[in-house]
Amino acid sequence: MTSLRRQSLPVGERHERIRSETVALSDRIAQLGMTIVTKLSNTVVGLLDGTVVNADSPLIHADDYGLLRGDGVFETTLAVDGVPRDLAEHLARLEVSAAMLDLVLPALSHWHRAIDAVLAQSAAGQLVLRLVATRGREGGDAPTCFVLAAAPSPRLHVERSAGISVLLLDRGFVGDEVAAMPWLLAGAKTLSYAMNMAARRYAEKHGADDVIFVGRDGRILEGPTATVVVARDGLLITPPVDGILAGVTVRRLFRAAAAAGWETETAPLTPADLDAADGLWLVSGVRLLAPVTAVDGRPRPIGPATAELAEILQVPGLIETDRA
Ligand SMILES: Cc1ncc(COP(=O)(O)O)c(C=O)c1O
Repeated sequence: MTSLRRQSLPVGERHERIRSETVALSDRIAQLGMTIVTKLSNTVVGLLDGTVVNADSPLIHADDYGLLRGDGVFETTLAVDGVPRDLAEHLARLEVSAAMLDLVLPALSHWHRAIDAVLAQSAAGQLVLRLVATRGREGGDAPTCFVLAAAPSPRLHVERSAGISVLLLDRGFVGDEVAAMPWLLAGAKTLSYAMNMAARRYAEKHGADDVIFVGRDGRILEGPTATVVVARDGLLITPPVDGILAGVTVRRLFRAAAAAGWETETAPLTPADLDAADGLWLVSGVRLLAPVTAVDGRPRPIGPATAELAEILQVPGLIETDRA
């Protein structure tokens, strides 16, 4: 394609050349016994029977409890060049969340089939995978399940490299108190993320990019979509999981960092600990590692360990995104 652009052909002629080359390529792939169903890099949806449909296709019924009540669970992770990161851990957490909602999910092999199917039809580079399971339709007895694959937002690059500013916001509860009330579903990754998104919008309206929630007892909890990690004198610390989601990425980071010589610890943190830390990050399955550059308007330098931790966490370069 690049060579066609360089030849500076008229647009119509260039499109025709691209079209005929694509047709020839499709024919060749068909001869090899493969099929192209959707265009590369489009958002696609994989169903658990292995079917892949374009994201524009109607999929959810109006009486689905996922829509009506946010009643369901999900997982999000990044696939890099066709390989999902930490897939076993995300599938395990999907099952834990579903069990907390008394939701019975299809066997893991069905999820793998859908994931393999969407990856087979997606471009190389970085891809956001969302595994979604709702309670299904009113009066029905089967969950609605699908896997959505989409290109990451361009904002991802900025957040990983330039960092994010955060507001500390009151979460309105004490972490270990809600952990003792299972009906509150603290720690389950449910589809009811409206509050998390409202907190983000609140931050944006007040000049920040994101949020770190603080419990009523003054302890740091988590971000709306991420785990908090601080560094202090060669020690990485994250808050206990009481009342918050047990992050897959922080576990991977801590395992790999320990192998690279870091001490790691799960311990309560306060806002003062964030101010005193050498480094502060929000970590999660897609953004991976975002350094925090300001807390409540107080600027802080990007932690000097950011590049090292990004390497430890195998944060992919962003060149692949351009290819996607
Ligand atoms: C509320 C919340 N906490 C923490 C995380 C980080 O979890 P993970 O690293 O498994 O993506 C997420 C991301 O999904 C989240 O939504």
